[in-house]
Amino acid sequence: MQSLEWSEESSVGIPQMDAQHRHLFELLAELRKCVNCGASDNDTLARKALQEAIRYAEWHLRREELLLRLRGYPDYAKHKAEHDSYREKVVSLQAQAHRRDLGIRIANFLAAWWTYHIQTSDQQYARFFRSQERIVNSSLAAAPPTRWRSRQPLPDPHAGSR
Ligand SMILES: [Fe+2]
Ligand SMILES: [Fe+2]
Repeated sequence: MQSLEWSEESSVGIPQMDAQHRHLFELLAELRKCVNCGASDNDTLARKALQEAIRYAEWHLRREELLLRLRGYPDYAKHKAEHDSYREKVVSLQAQAHRRDLGIRIANFLAAWWTYHIQTSDQQYARFFRSQERIVNSSLAAAPPTRWRSRQPLPDPHAGSR
C-alpha cells in the first residue's frame, strides 16, 4: 500500500507545485481513511472525499500544464498525454458505480498513480527546469570582455585633427 507521505524526494523544486502535490497527498490520505473507516455514513463521506480529491487533482493538472507550456518544456505533449490517460481512467472508474468495491478501487488507483507520476514524470520536468536555471545562472555570471573591464579611456577620435 502506498504511504502517501510527503517527502523531499517528491519535490519538483517549485514551491507552488510542491504545495499542490502535498495537498493532493493529504486529500488522498483522507479519501483512503474514509473508504476504510466503515462508519455508517462511510459512503457519503467517501463520495465527498473522492469528489474533492478529483476536483483538486484536475485543478492541479491544469496549473501544471500551463506552467509547462509557459516554460517551453520540450516533452510537454508526452506529459499532457499522461495526464489525459489519467483523466480517462478516472472517468471509466467512476462509470462503474454499481461495483461495491468501487471506493477502494478508485482510492488505490489514485494513490498509486499520483505517487508514481509525481516521483517519476514530474521529476523529469523538474530536471529540465533545474538545467535551464543552471544555463541562465552561468550566462549571467560570465565575466565581461577584457576591454570593458579596463579603466583605460577610449582614444579621442578628434585627437589628430586639432
Ligand atoms: Fe504534478
Ligand atoms: Fe504531471
